[in-house]
Amino acid sequence: KAEDGSRLWLRYEQVSDEEMLEQYRSLLQEVVIQGESETLSIVRHEIQKGLTGLLGHSIPIDKVLSQTQSLIIGTPATSKVVASAGLDESLKAIGDEGFLVTMKKMEGVTHRIIAANTDIGLLYGVFRFLKQLQLHKSIRDLSIESAPRIKHRLLNHWDNLDRSVERGYAGLSLWEWSTLPEYKSPRYVDYARANASIGINGTVLNNVNSDPRMMTEQYLEKASALADIFRPYGIKVYLSANFYAPMRIGGLDTADPLDPEVQQWWKEKVDQIYEHIPDFGGFLVKANSEGQPGPADYGRTHAEGANVLAEALQPHGGILMWRAFVYSADQEDRFREGYDEFVPLDGEFADNVILQVKNGPIDFQPREPFHPLFGALPKTNTMLELQVTQEYFGFSNHLAYMGPLYEEALQSDTYVQGEGSTVAKVIDGDLFDYKHTGIAGVANTGTDRNWTGHPFGQANWYVYGRMAWDHSLTAEKVADEWLRMTFTHDPDFVEPVKSMMMKSREAGVKYRNPLGLTHLYAQGHHYGPAPWTAELSRPDWTAVYYHRADSAGIGFDRTESGSNALEQYQPSVRARFENPETMPEEYLLWFHHLPWDFKLNSGKTLWEELVHRYYEGVTMVEEMQKTWNSVEGLIDQERFDHVQALLEIQKKDALWWRNACVLYFQSLSGKPIPAGLEKPA
Ligand code: GCU
Repeated sequence: KAEDGSRLWLRYEQVSDEEMLEQYRSLLQEVVIQGESETLSIVRHEIQKGLTGLLGHSIPIDKVLSQTQSLIIGTPATSKVVASAGLDESLKAIGDEGFLVTMKKMEGVTHRIIAANTDIGLLYGVFRFLKQLQLHKSIRDLSIESAPRIKHRLLNHWDNLDRSVERGYAGLSLWEWSTLPEYKSPRYVDYARANASIGINGTVLNNVNSDPRMMTEQYLEKASALADIFRPYGIKVYLSANFYAPMRIGGLDTADPLDPEVQQWWKEKVDQIYEHIPDFGGFLVKANSEGQPGPADYGRTHAEGANVLAEALQPHGGILMWRAFVYSADQEDRFREGYDEFVPLDGEFADNVILQVKNGPIDFQPREPFHPLFGALPKTNTMLELQVTQEYFGFSNHLAYMGPLYEEALQSDTYVQGEGSTVAKVIDGDLFDYKHTGIAGVANTGTDRNWTGHPFGQANWYVYGRMAWDHSLTAEKVADEWLRMTFTHDPDFVEPVKSMMMKSREAGVKYRNPLGLTHLYAQGHHYGPAPWTAELSRPDWTAVYYHRADSAGIGFDRTESGSNALEQYQPSVRARFENPETMPEEYLLWFHHLPWDFKLNSGKTLWEELVHRYYEGVTMVEEMQKTWNSVEGLIDQERFDHVQALLEIQKKDALWWRNACVLYFQSLSGKPIPAGLEKPA
């Protein structure tokens, strides 16, 4: 029994709550599954594995219902029992991927039923049912109805063909390109299963900074082997496409999207991909961003570029995810660029294009205001891109639970149709009736034994999937279930550790970028601090570009007197951020350049408050260490030691951040370290 975390949240250990165990044993005498398919084999295997582990004994799986209390699993098409259970109305409401977990009395015996319209729906239902047991919840009365609110729920792997992973901190890429398609690592199944358990239904295999060889015959054969493995788990394969592919691998001398030869090339390429992968999901494209080629190279718009690829995918039912992450060196304010570039194009994209927008306008910073593109594109399908891998959060060395960040991003109010027009409602199609809805998370998985490097990195994979399925979930609820399934139900563990998780993101904000500072990272690696960086190849890659500190003050003026990026938001949002006296302080320096002596709500000056927050960040990490030390003995030693050691690194790094930033800003402000705080060294 491995305690290295490789089993993720799917550990299925025998239920430790005696009363519940007895209830489960008495209500689950037999499992009935009718029908045959690859997915149904997985369903059988999963329910067997799950119940055997959780109940501590195996239960017969039959095709015919007998007179004992059973768990019936089926679709109306394959199961006579389900077809006759009177579930038609509820089934209509849950679509292709949803499921019901319910009960039905038949001939005097009450059975539990997992029903869905498709086999994939059943698989999701099985994971949900098993979770009920994993969480020690009663199954006496069951009436769960669940369907995803967002259609395309993807992981984006920034994986290169040499198996390095851009911004990956958990080992090598999972895709063993050199031995595919012949050798199929068992890890591919583990990966698909873990994703299915949280409802992820798509995976982009390769980096957005894309190697065009990914679309050659040689690699398509390999990708097709992965697609075959993922398919029965409901997961479609997508590829990142390089806009210059027609030249780089196609032998053309242009990639101009308006050139008929180029258009023909994309059609043929897409046809070839569908020969290999009949249910291929589509492309993800990073164009004219950070050196990637794109339509602007030919004086064409993003829409003109995107539509050519979209048209090639359209007859096959594929989608094109076009990234809105664009910025250039010569603009006054990087914040503005996505909006300025794409809003004028609203309505010009084909209807199988989805614009993929990062949660914030800069780049996955510890805290960003929501991207002003959300709510600004009524005629363009818009999806949300979150980062699961901790590029700006201490890699896999730091404990930083992303649930609160995702919740904050999803629940941000765009006000586009009045109060309550959250980002979640934009991306689930509620506000604008998008034809395609989607969400993407930049993956944090790799070949490390525990998948994610930091044992708590698993929570970020988990919460991403859970919120992609249901964006109304709270970070806290998800943390609670993840802890119980991954570690233990012991309240002396769950309660303090949950509260530690919930504070961890804010701790990371405080020791790096308090009060709305942004991007003080050393260029390139994005791990440690370098707020002093001024001289680099591009001004928008320096820290001073973002903080704008000098002897008079600090912050980026995005009001009318500055770049006026605030004008990109609805008036109610603008009003919220416009006035530095009344706005939420955690966003202050995102929008205002203020004197060091500016008075804050606490009564402290901006300088004093800034320094205090840096110090609080370190204190919070020390508290995390205390919390963790207090739970020793309540879980296995292996994972305990691992987290303890990583927290020690985190503490050192937090101090490093605090001292570097405070000393640097002090060299500009010329102000003393506030009384009561030790001197940074
Ligand atoms: C960040 C990240 C890059 C990545 C880029 C993107 O800038 O540092 O590594 O390629 O985002 O999202 O395209």
